[in-house]
Amino acid sequence: MPSQKLLIKYGTVAHSNNLEPIDILISDQKIVNIGKNLSDKVDRVINAKGKLVLPGGVDSHCHIEQKSASGLVNSDTFYTGTSAAALGGNTTVIPFAAQYDGDSLLEVVDRYHNLANKGSIVDYSMHMIIAGPTDNVIKKELPKLILSGHSSIKLFMTYDRLRIDDENILEILKQARKCGAMVSVHAENHEMITNKVKELLEDGCYHPKYHTDSHPVEGEVDAFRRIIQMSDETKQPVMIFHVSSEQGLNEIRSGKSRGVKFFAETCTQYLTLNSHLLDQEQINDGAKWICSPPIRSINDSEALWKGLEDRTLDLVTSDHAPYSFDNKGKFFKDNSPNFKEIPNGIPGLHWRLPILLDRVLNKQCNLDISDFVRMTSTMPAKVYGLYPHKGEIKIGSDADIVIWDTDLNITLSDDMVVDGSKYNPYSGMKVSCWPNEVILRGTTIVKDNIIKTEAGTGQFLSTKLSEYI
Ligand code: URP
Ligand code: ZN
Ligand code: ZN
Repeated sequence: MPSQKLLIKYGTVAHSNNLEPIDILISDQKIVNIGKNLSDKVDRVINAKGKLVLPGGVDSHCHIEQKSASGLVNSDTFYTGTSAAALGGNTTVIPFAAQYDGDSLLEVVDRYHNLANKGSIVDYSMHMIIAGPTDNVIKKELPKLILSGHSSIKLFMTYDRLRIDDENILEILKQARKCGAMVSVHAENHEMITNKVKELLEDGCYHPKYHTDSHPVEGEVDAFRRIIQMSDETKQPVMIFHVSSEQGLNEIRSGKSRGVKFFAETCTQYLTLNSHLLDQEQINDGAKWICSPPIRSINDSEALWKGLEDRTLDLVTSDHAPYSFDNKGKFFKDNSPNFKEIPNGIPGLHWRLPILLDRVLNKQCNLDISDFVRMTSTMPAKVYGLYPHKGEIKIGSDADIVIWDTDLNITLSDDMVVDGSKYNPYSGMKVSCWPNEVILRGTTIVKDNIIKTEAGTGQFLSTKLSEYI
């Protein structure tokens, strides 16, 4: 990318836990000065008066152009997925290179690099999903990959095609500890889900609304308890993905209060959407909100907001996993599918930051702008080894900056969608804020809702286990 010298003036800037009107000077893709009344010979001055200036979002949980548990590839290319990310104020994403049983992890990661390199318009690193934990993969391929900048592993405790048992999880945690990697986990009890699905289908309960019953909260609680125990035993930090329930949250709280060192995230949908959405009059419409774990009750959402406020939860991600609302996506198995035949996942890269920031700005939670920056940018960067290049407005960091308008009245709608799902699960929701300009390493990639860059602009970010966690 051509590197511009840029001066952002008069914006209200979130930096080093401060929020103040201050200027930012950018040169050679980096932030080189932050201060009052800066002046310099620059290519462009941006007048950010009256606007909020925040670090670019880091969405550390998103599925892009990835083969998923259903066997389908998500309805996104790197270009569409990262366009959605950039339009929603993100400058870094961490998607998944997914190994299935029998695949070489080295080859999977290599193939994924090719896709991302060709299509991404924001910077990226990747989590490696391990679903075939052979000796060769764990003892030979994994250490090589970790050494070459892939320091994040993802494991599944459920899904037929992806899950691995506790014995293999322990082996991987030990190897991660030895080689210096972070391990993220989709933690739900597989047998409880399978048993419930069988019961429901035998009773003729096919409607999408039964998806919620098929993932009992107790399954989340049991799997959280096991993974926290394994993390404690191996002294390997883990990230528990997508906490969806109050009881699950309580398990996290209890593990953290015992002093076990691990992290936990929730996602936009568990905070703002609830299970009644699955019970639509047009039966198929409920498919739009089928994701796993399922969106749950208003009580659960309220508990999760409290979990963010008391820092039991560390991050908010999107778990973006788009499937088009047609027979190539949600209905790939059948035009009138039962709940189990619908691929799991909803889009979110575009919507996470405006929805959360709106709740913060309009005081619908007890979180402030520094909390918002911490949960959506700084902490994901720290946990996954991207900090201090990413995650903060700081001298020496990459100039990844989002200039936000905060006095708008936008109703989210399907018309705004650029990702491959072609629907917006948050349609009808109102937000007062929106990214006016998104800057990646000193170059504008979005202005006034228009993409200003090309596929392939994004760079791979080599990572190692962070010294900041
Ligand atoms: O429903 C979801 N979240 N699909 C994506 C796969 C996963 O569980 O991470
Ligand atoms: Zn998951
Ligand atoms: Zn996921």
